[in-house]
Amino acid sequence: MSLKKINPIKTKSWSKLKAHFNEIENKEIKDLLSTRSNPSCFSLGWNDFNIDISKNRIDNTTLNLLLDLAKECGLEDAISKQFQGNIINETEKRAVLHTAIRTDGNEKINVDGLNVVPSILETRSKIKSFTNDIISGNLKGDTGKPFTDVVNIGIGGSDLGPVMVVEALKHYSSRLKPHFVSNVDGDHVLEIIKDLNPETTLFIIVSKTFTTQETISNANTIRDWLVSKLNVSAVSKHFAAVSTNLTEIKKFGINQKMVFSMNDWVGGRFSLWSSVGLSISLAVGYENFSKLLSGANKMDKHFQNIEFKNNIPVVLALLSIWYNNFFKCETEAVIPYTQYLSRLPAYLQQAIMESNGKSIDRNGNPVEYQTGNIIWGDTGTNSQHAFFQLIHQGTKLIPCDFIGFKNPLFKENTQHNKLMSNFFAQTEALMMGKSEKTVVEELKKAGLNANEINSLKAFKIFNGNRPTNTLLIDQLSPESLGSLIAMYEHKIFVQGVIWNIYSYDQWGVELGKQLASKVLKEIENKKISDHDSSTNSLLKSYLSN
Ligand code: F6P
Repeated sequence: MSLKKINPIKTKSWSKLKAHFNEIENKEIKDLLSTRSNPSCFSLGWNDFNIDISKNRIDNTTLNLLLDLAKECGLEDAISKQFQGNIINETEKRAVLHTAIRTDGNEKINVDGLNVVPSILETRSKIKSFTNDIISGNLKGDTGKPFTDVVNIGIGGSDLGPVMVVEALKHYSSRLKPHFVSNVDGDHVLEIIKDLNPETTLFIIVSKTFTTQETISNANTIRDWLVSKLNVSAVSKHFAAVSTNLTEIKKFGINQKMVFSMNDWVGGRFSLWSSVGLSISLAVGYENFSKLLSGANKMDKHFQNIEFKNNIPVVLALLSIWYNNFFKCETEAVIPYTQYLSRLPAYLQQAIMESNGKSIDRNGNPVEYQTGNIIWGDTGTNSQHAFFQLIHQGTKLIPCDFIGFKNPLFKENTQHNKLMSNFFAQTEALMMGKSEKTVVEELKKAGLNANEINSLKAFKIFNGNRPTNTLLIDQLSPESLGSLIAMYEHKIFVQGVIWNIYSYDQWGVELGKQLASKVLKEIENKKISDHDSSTNSLLKSYLSN
């Protein structure tokens, strides 16, 4: 059964939200804070997550209307269809079950009438024994030496999730050193392999399709390098592969024991929980990989079972719609206050923008409203010294997620209070701003005269009223990271459901790929065919090199 097709802007709640927006648009968050009838609605506690949404341009009515919108758009039905394995990715005719691969094993999940849980657990146990064999040194390279380095060869969902998690969980590292090769830029792969010892390096080719140009080119380059350094039989000991395309894997010469399958009902950008996460398991050990899955599974249960008003992904998604569709915000920023999450914004860019960057609705018609948020960000405090100027005083309204942790990971860390004081101060500053009166007082105190104050004050005023969500979590652990990622995954789905789009396909990446393969042939044959005048002249210039 497919998802309902409801145009959100034709719903009663949308009309009410529009009218309500006119009332609230110019209100100040700091005033709203004190007038809200039920302040506890603006704080969501769950496990070790404490999510404060009170620094938003909303009141109780906003929240209630947004919750009505979710109901009117059939969200409840959509969630159960997703978890039941219905074909909700209609344009690719697939179920969407990344949630199944983090199952706790106590349920039945049917795809085409077949319970897939046993095969999921089987793959997991293969990941576990492979990980343990590599880390313990039981499984060795071609010359009998234990592996020291692991290179993940993949791109998009076969790279961004694993690389983000491996970086995030660096504190929990195993003895293996992880590396990631993604770009078809040959300099990228050559830069990575130049210092590696072929005798002690394991390569994992990760590609759902096993046809992706970038991944296959990098894999071929690495295989040639390995063969030149060792011998052709080393390929079967130094390469593992993760894919749905078992035929192509075989052609590459990979040993059957080193092959990890994938299911077509797991989308690339949601696949880090599957065998795509093999590099994660190797980098942090299977126990930690398993805790990552369990954290995600807990968030899945929360998302499935908790009423919408206390449902974290639902509420965050609704707030995002509020800013995107009513305040017409173009972008959202994600600011983690831990260096370990430096790759989170890049990961979320694919997850969010490849999913919801759509302009055709589920009826096949062009949408009449804005979809897909543009996501960007970087870690605090680095970003404070980079782009925060624009968030504080620029002309654009940029809702931000601030993610922070109560406890640091190193016992010896004496700087955590400094980090976290910035975390709290920034959201307060963004909300409160600084009034003309305060600016003038400060300048007077600093000894400036009236003329100097008059010419300077406008530049020093902060209008404030800039919305933020604060996600305060006990500690960055495999489990809390799993929950955090799953939270964003579900937020994406909720937004897609309400925008009446298909979040799980990605046709928009095809055109450029097709054209690139045509252009490549022309470059190789040094024969340019019929492009537009701009592209023709650029290609001519490239070929004249
Ligand atoms: O960029 C498009 C895309 O299809 C992503 O959705 C996917 O994660 C990536 O390419 C890699 O695909 P594959 O795993 O098949 O190599």
